[in-house]
Order: sequence, then structure tokens, then C-alpha cells
Amino acid sequence: MAMETGLIFHPYMRPGRTARQTFDWGVQSSIAADKAGFTSMMISEHASQIWENIPNPELIMAAAALQTKTIKFAPMAHLLPHQHPTKLAMTIGWLSQILEGRYFLGIGAGAYPAASYMHGIRGDDINSKHLNDMVRESLSIMEKIWKREPFFYEGKYWDAGFPEEEVALTEEDEQHKLADFSPWGGFPEVAVTGFSMESPSMRLAGEKNFKPVSIYSGLDALKRHWEIYSEANIKAGFTPDRQRHAVSHTIFVGDTDAEAKKEVMEGPIGYCFNKYLIPIWRRFGMMDGFAKDHGIDPLAADLEFLVDRVFIVGSPDTVVEKTNELFSKCGGWGTLQIESHDYYDDPSPWFHSLELAAKEVAPRITLPGEPVASKETVAA
Ligand SMILES: Cc1cc2nc3c(=O)[nH]c(=O)nc-3n(C[C@H](O)[C@H](O)[C@H](O)COP(=O)(O)O)c2cc1C
Repeated sequence: MAMETGLIFHPYMRPGRTARQTFDWGVQSSIAADKAGFTSMMISEHASQIWENIPNPELIMAAAALQTKTIKFAPMAHLLPHQHPTKLAMTIGWLSQILEGRYFLGIGAGAYPAASYMHGIRGDDINSKHLNDMVRESLSIMEKIWKREPFFYEGKYWDAGFPEEEVALTEEDEQHKLADFSPWGGFPEVAVTGFSMESPSMRLAGEKNFKPVSIYSGLDALKRHWEIYSEANIKAGFTPDRQRHAVSHTIFVGDTDAEAKKEVMEGPIGYCFNKYLIPIWRRFGMMDGFAKDHGIDPLAADLEFLVDRVFIVGSPDTVVEKTNELFSKCGGWGTLQIESHDYYDDPSPWFHSLELAAKEVAPRITLPGEPVASKETVAA
């Protein structure tokens, strides 16, 4: 079994990009990832961030549905506290039908307090526990809606129902039946985003046997995510499978190590980190994990440290070696989920990197539980 490659599109567009440019870049990226052989593309949902300027990931997916062939799409994530579960259940069902099954559903609690505030959640309620309670209630309502059986539920956060449908006795009755917006295949595959060290989301994913999705924020956090997920998964009677775990990371593959490093330091990725992500990572404590892994002071962690020691950057051989080394330290995962950046002005280095990742790197990664693959065995 080969490592799967995924693209995650937050999309880290530099401020000043228009909605049309962001939308266009989303569709272009989906076409390129599909052609390169990527298994999935995940698209974020944010109401507040200028660098993360997609409020409705489903719009890009709908446009891309017509121009892609095999790649699967997922919102990563639809933020369940931010909308009525019935409306969202129908959007999801309909889109998964439009994509004829090339769809899975990412759910999340929402990362940014400003976005929660816009949706009426404020003060002490902006915490993991409260938001996660909302996620659980929303999910249980969506599951009921997808079943299409009569219910009425009065919840803590939302009320919802599905009406009793009268049996159609005549041809005329048939014309008034309820439209079926349930997901392709009845129930979508669900993925849950986990971020914090004691992640309630990873617990939910384990309990419900959903796909766990993390952002790489250092070895301790990643190992803890897997522990929380596995404990809950085993307790609920399932067998945890590391190959279902998808982890987002900054990865850039060039023809040589020097070219790849220069591109990341001086191109759109470096620009985004210097202007936006490094300050955010400091605020969310993400630098602490990376600094601890490499025995440095978090304040000394700058772009070059990240490029050399944390990100996976280099020629295909180097990227294979760095990924295998990382996997040997943390147990590995199944989908190498590459964080997308703003190459709108000149996509060629980025699309070349995606091609190399899918074709020259992924087949040579040793998946959890597999014997180490050599370059020769892959080539043969
Ligand atoms: C891969 C990934 C993608 C995410 N995408 C979004 C997003 O699109 N919008 C958002 O507000 N938060 C996003 N988040 C953050 C989640 O909404 C949420 O804050 C986080 O998963 C909560 O995790 P916890 O239960 O571990 O505290 C994402 C997190 C991860 C790991």
C-alpha cells in the first residue's frame, strides 16, 4: 500500500488577493493535484482571517467537481458550531451526490475566537469543551437528517426535525415526495480535525471511528493525538489504524536540496511564514513543540530553523529520508497532507513540487507497520 498524498488548502493567500483570484487558485490547484495523482484535497473554512480567505469551501469543490476525475474532496473543516445542522447536512449530502462519492466530510470546532464571536459565541464559551459540545450536538442532528426517518429534536443549541412522509398512493402523490439530499452512499466518511495537546476532537474521532486529521505541531502533540484517538477507538470496540491518520505539514520538493531551500526561504511559503504563520504559531504555542524537539529556545525559532529542521524540504531523496526519519520517531501516518501556499502568480515551482511528491516521494515512504522500502524495490 502506498502512502497517500493530500493537499490542504487554507489557502494562505497574501492579503490583497481578490475573491476571484482565491477561487481561481483553488480550482487550478484541484486540477493540478488531480493530474499529479493526489488522493485528496481538503479545503478550509474561515470567517475571519485575511490570509485564510475561504468562508465556503463547498463552492470551490462544486466548481472543481466538473474539472477533476479521481481526486476526493473534503471541507477541512466545516465548523459545526457556525451553522444550522440541517442546512449543513443538506449541503453535504447534495455536494457528495454532485461529486458522485468523491467526497468526505471534515468537521471542526473552529480555531479563531473572532469567527466564533461572529456566530454568536463569546466570552467563556470560546473554549474547546463548549465548542466540542456544539460539534457533538450538530453531528447527532445531521446523522438523524441523513437517516430520513421522522424525528423532532429540541437541543441545547439547535432544534431540528424530519417530517413523517405520507405514503405515495398515486402518481400525483409521487410528485410531492421529499427530495433526497442524503449523502452519496447514505453516510459520508467523516474526518475530525485535532489541534490541542489534550484534543477533545481526537477523542470524538476515536469514539466514533472517524478519520483523525492533525496539523503537525511537534512530536509530543502528534504522539498524544494518536494515544487519545487509539484509547477512545479501542474503548468503543474498534481497531485503530495509523494509515487512516492524515497529518498536515509544510513540504516542498525541488530538483535539488539547494533549489528547494531557496524557493521556500524566498518564495511565497517563506513570505507567509514571516508575515503570518510564525506570529500565529508563537501565539498558539506551536513553536514550543518544535523548539523542544530540537532543544532550542522557542524565541530563537525562525524561518530558517523551520526550513532546515521542521519542514520537509529538499530533493525527492532528501524528502523521502526526512519523512522516513520522522515516521520512525512518531509511528507514522497514512496521508502526507501538504499545506498549500499562494503560488497564484507563478504556479510552476509549486505544481512541480506536487508532482514530485506524488510520483517520486510517496511511493518510497515506509508506511506504519511496513518493512523499509528501498529505491530499487520501488523502481522494480
Ligand atoms: C487539519 C486541520 C484543519 C483545520 N481547519 C480549520 C478550518 O478550516 N477552520 C477553522 O476555524 N479551524 C480549523 N482547524 C481547527 C479546528 O477547527 C479546531 O480548532 C481544532 O481542531 C480543535 O481541536 P482540539 O479538539 O484538538 O482542541 C483545523 C485543524 C486541523 C488540525
